[in-house]
Formats: sequence, structure tokens, C-alpha cells
Amino acid sequence: MSKQPPVVDIVIFGGHGDLALRKIMPALYFLFSQKYIGVESRIISTVRHPFSQTEHRNLVHQKLHEYLPPGHCSEAYWQSFSARLTCISMDITDAGSYTELAGLLQKFPERARIYYLSTPSSLFGNICTALEQTGLVTPDSRVVLEKPIGHDMASFRQIDDLVTAVFHESQIFRIDHYLGKDTVQNILALRFSNAIFKPLWNSQNIDHVQITVAETVGVEGRWGYYERYGAMRDMVQNHLMQLLCLIAMEPPGHLDSDSVRNEKVKVLKALRKMDKREIAEKTVRGQYRKGASNGLPVPGYLEDDTEPHVSDTETFVAIRADIDNWTWSGVPFYLRTGKRMSERFSEIIIQFKKIPHSVFPDNGKPVEPNKLVIHLQPEESIKLLLMNKKPGLTNGMSLRPVELELNVAEDDPRSPTAYERLLLDVINNDPTLFMRRDEVEAAWEWADYILNHWEEDSIRVKGYTAGTDGPSAAVALIERDGRSWHEHG
Ligand code: BG6
Repeated sequence: MSKQPPVVDIVIFGGHGDLALRKIMPALYFLFSQKYIGVESRIISTVRHPFSQTEHRNLVHQKLHEYLPPGHCSEAYWQSFSARLTCISMDITDAGSYTELAGLLQKFPERARIYYLSTPSSLFGNICTALEQTGLVTPDSRVVLEKPIGHDMASFRQIDDLVTAVFHESQIFRIDHYLGKDTVQNILALRFSNAIFKPLWNSQNIDHVQITVAETVGVEGRWGYYERYGAMRDMVQNHLMQLLCLIAMEPPGHLDSDSVRNEKVKVLKALRKMDKREIAEKTVRGQYRKGASNGLPVPGYLEDDTEPHVSDTETFVAIRADIDNWTWSGVPFYLRTGKRMSERFSEIIIQFKKIPHSVFPDNGKPVEPNKLVIHLQPEESIKLLLMNKKPGLTNGMSLRPVELELNVAEDDPRSPTAYERLLLDVINNDPTLFMRRDEVEAAWEWADYILNHWEEDSIRVKGYTAGTDGPSAAVALIERDGRSWHEHG
């Protein structure tokens, strides 16, 4: 007989925020409809302003239509899903206003509770303390924390101390949704289930690594948030660092959460803390100016809000990072991320070294080095670029690159989103794909170094036109080392 899906109470703090409505609700809708969550489970959204249950359900319905792939919000299923939704208007920072929430939760004291904190991280401490004061933290409660947690190492520690005073580390799920993407998990499968890669995975054979996360969107109505964080804190300190860890970590002894996280922490700790001179040379900050995106004119960052601003916040970052250990010494990791770039794509390029000597004259054309190309989005694929003889009688021994493609797409027309996978892991109490405190600390430590030098040395953003690939300084950064960014496509 198949196992019954768990029945849980999920409380979303910041229930009408962009993330809750755009990502969390659609993910829960799928998990419910596919019976990963028991039908009696409840989703309780806390909101600031008074909202009736009908208004709340109508809003969620409208947003599901907006954010689910077309045709996926079934009216028949909506009826049963909407019956699981409740909304409570409350001041989440004041323990005195938790009475209604407590009343609801205490109807089922044995049920696992998932508190999803989809609010600014500055409120995490208040919420956890209020939950404890109102007796709502049971042994089977879990708390999910959205990134970025804090603004730097000091504020991260302050916030995390308050959370860990209430929840045990095993109950805390620090989310980085990149770890829930299928291809990202495939990196582990590729590296640790295929013996051919292990002997090649080091500085003797790999020339360099590139990690790019390019977005075409701007700040999307989140100017206030973005202004405080910028690309370094919003993307590099978490998503790009996690991708770097998965590429650079040593094989873990087991696939359990601590074994994997121990190896990732070692990588983060081995990241070189650059000095001032290196930071000036090896990092680039950019900010988009007005331009075009998908053929339409778009404003620059400074005008991308309800009123114009003056700001030096970066919307683009390029960095050459180095890992000081035996495996990676001398292998640069080039990281790049930006908003309003020419195309939306995330990819990782592992470029192998050139052959030491070529026996192919080929009109003096050099033999191209092998590359492992991992596309994370929008399409998911893993390709190995190899050199091959051009076919036919007339081409002599001319060579051409060919792609050996691992087809990672399933026949399933819809692959689960990162939030679906990660929420299911929280429901099943599996923390492997979540970040441990020391991981976040190590990532902040490295990021703080760069952020502080940028501030102290007044390293200003360089403008780039929306719809391009960032400032020219990012091209110069890699070309100075005799390399170039991989051409996507
Ligand atoms: C979020 C950032 O964590 O990731 C956003 O806060 C960014 O600024 C988003 O747009 C990108 O996620 P994805 O999955 O669309 O690449």
C-alpha cells in the first residue's frame, strides 16, 4: 500500500509578498494537487492589512493564474485547494497579536508545523521569539528562512542567534532555491557517479571555470529591497557561491546533509580573501542604464522605480575568484551575474586545458580545448565539447568541435520548480539541500571582504546599457588573463 502523504500546517509569514504569491503558493498548489501533501493540511498566510478570507482566496486564485504555466490552474482542483487556505491579519513582530494563529494551530497540536519566513530577514528574530513566547514551537516544528539572511556577517549572526535560540539547527531550513533546481542537483550526479571525471577534476587538467547567471529582467518593482542588497548580496553571496561549491567540492563520503555540507564549507573557507589591489583588478561592479529588453525600451536602474533615484548599487557583478587548495590552485573561477542583460541564461563552463602539442596542421588553427557546458536555465542540458575530424574526402585532417549531449530533460512536460522540491524536502524533514549556519557564515566572510573594500575604496559602478552583457570592464577582466567569456547559444 502506498504511503500516506504527510499532513502539515504551513504558515507563510509575509503571505501577500511577491515571493509568497509568485513562487511559494504555486509550488504548494502543485504539491497538493499531486498528493505530496495530505489533503487535510492547511496553508495559513499572515498579512499586515485586514483581508477577508474571500478576498484572500480571490487574490491567491488570481496570482495562480498569473504565475502557473498556462492551463495548469484547474478550476475543479482550485475548489479543494482553496478550502485549505486561511489568512490572518496580524502584526508579526508583536507576540500579543499571535492569539488567532495560536488558536488555529492548537486545534492540531501533534501536526508538524512549517513556518515559512518570507519577510525581510530583519524580522526573523522577532517572529521566532514571538512563536516561542506564544508556545507555538513544538518538537515537530520547522522554520524556513529566505535568503539573503542579514546584510553582512555581523547582521547574519545577530539574526541567526535569535533564530537558533528558539529552533534547533536540525529544525532550521535556510533556503537557496538554486539548490532545488534539477540540473544543479545533476552536478552532484554527474561528478560523483561517473568515474571518468574524478581524475580530470583538478588544476592539472582544468584551465578555468565560468559561472554566469544572466537575467533579462530589471528590479521588477523591488527597488527598495534591491537598493539595500545589490547583486553581490542578492545573487553572488548565495546562488553563485553555492554553484561554485558544487563544482569545487571534493566527493563527500555520503550523500547525507552533513557530509555534503562539510565539503562545501571547506571550499568556501579556501576562497582567497583578496587584498585591495586584487579587488580593484579582479572585480567589476555595473549598473544598467536605459536600453532595450526583448525589443522594448526599458528604463535604467535609477529610473526603475516610482520616482527617480541617485544610487551606486550594483546590478551586475563579475569576479575572478581563486580557491587556495591543492586541487584548485591556479584555476580561476570567473563569476558573472546581472540584471537586464541581453539574454536570460545560467550556465557553468568547465574549460579543460589545451592539448600540450598538436599533430594537426589545420592551417595553423589551434585545437580547441574541451569544455563541459552545464546549462541550468532556461533550457537544461549538459554538453561535452570534443574535437572531431571533419567528415569527407576533401577535408584532410581538419577538425571541428562536436557536442556530446546528455539529454537531461524528461518526457514529463513540466519539471518541478525548485520551490516545489525544496518545500517537499522541508515537509519530509530532509535538510541536505539547505544551508547550514557555518556555510552562510563562510560565504558572508568572503563577500564582506569584497563589499567592504568596494565601500572603503569608493569603487563605483560602471554603467551598461540594458539589453547588453554588462560593462566592458567585465570583458577586460577575463581577457587580461588571456581567456574569454564562453559565447552562449
Ligand atoms: C532571487 C533573487 O533569489 O533569484 C532575484 O532575489 C533573482 O533578484 C532570482 O531574480 C533569480 O532566480 P531564477 O530562479 O529566476 O534564476
